Amino acid sequence: MLILSIDTSCDETSVAVTNGRKIIVNKVFSQVLINKKGGGVVPNLARRAHEDRIDFVIEEALKRVSSRFDFIAVTYGPGLAPALEVGINKAKTLAKIYKKKLIAVNHLEGHIYSCFAQNSAGNPQLDFKFPYLSLIVSGGHTELAIFKDHLDYKVIGETIDDAAGEALDKAAKLLGLGYPGGEVIERLAKQGDPKYHFFPRPMSRTLDLNFSFSGLKTSFYYYVTKMSDTERHDNLYNFAASYQEAVFESIIKKLQLAFEREKTVNLIVGGGVIANRLLRKKIRDLSKKYNGQVLFPVFKTLYGDNAAMIGIAAYYRALKNQFVDNLESLDRIPRARLDSYLDSAA
Ligand code: KG4
Ligand code: ZN
Repeated sequence: MLILSIDTSCDETSVAVTNGRKIIVNKVFSQVLINKKGGGVVPNLARRAHEDRIDFVIEEALKRVSSRFDFIAVTYGPGLAPALEVGINKAKTLAKIYKKKLIAVNHLEGHIYSCFAQNSAGNPQLDFKFPYLSLIVSGGHTELAIFKDHLDYKVIGETIDDAAGEALDKAAKLLGLGYPGGEVIERLAKQGDPKYHFFPRPMSRTLDLNFSFSGLKTSFYYYVTKMSDTERHDNLYNFAASYQEAVFESIIKKLQLAFEREKTVNLIVGGGVIANRLLRKKIRDLSKKYNGQVLFPVFKTLYGDNAAMIGIAAYYRALKNQFVDNLESLDRIPRARLDSYLDSAA
């Protein structure tokens, strides 16, 4: 079953062709250079950039299969409304032109299914071992859920303010390190001392599974702005390491609580921040204590936003005959929730 999938939820214009879990082609065109200038994603600039290149990205993706695909899939949310709209409109047009059924996919379930991707030869061959504890750490989300079975999720914890990736991006911006910041912070942190300064770990004492990063960001702001330029310059590596440590330890604390509470040993992790080697190590070390399996996106290109992950999730929707009945009624849902499929009231 060949699926042509589109994701334009934030600042990547991505189009893929997948066959079940196998990735045939996964094209990702990033707007990072455009957004760097503004220090973040500006919704209307993002829309324009998606509009400017989406036809080209579709053409590139279709070079391998021409029009021999069976279904079209598209991200309906969560994400930036003007950005999502570009992908959805294009998917509707293609569905009409090629007379194919459309599948709507939640971006967050895409991040989860990225752990089950395979190359075109069908490797790696992982079996699903439900139920899983799932953790998504991205620029827009920090979320814990139970992945009970295919397409069946229950959110058990989420951020009450900023996402972890956003917290890293904002700190990097404050230090004048550009956008997005997670990768730069990781690079600097490697040479710094994570114990140099103890930044607070908000919500770490609460007994629920929710996260909060805005207090940490504020504390970083006051700490850094009080310094002289020389002091700041001399300690850049240490700031990066200490701040990154606070963000990651907040995540690990809640993940541990979730393991204890849910008695679920297998773990699935997805989202752009997972590109961070230290975070993966911390997660792997923790999950070893519970003797379960821990799954990360199988290829590096699947950490960040991409359409292949949308195509894989769409495959499982197609197996259950979950297609969009009426093309005109499909609308973007910028605050879509993982556990409320296509529900805009959620
Ligand atoms: O999943 P993603 O590509 O987009 C969203 O759906 O939000 O995640 C983007 C986030 C950004 O905040 C970026 O700074 C972060 O992932 N990120 C990283 C690294 N690479 C990207 N954070 C920490 N370490 C990295 N190496
Ligand atoms: Zn994402």
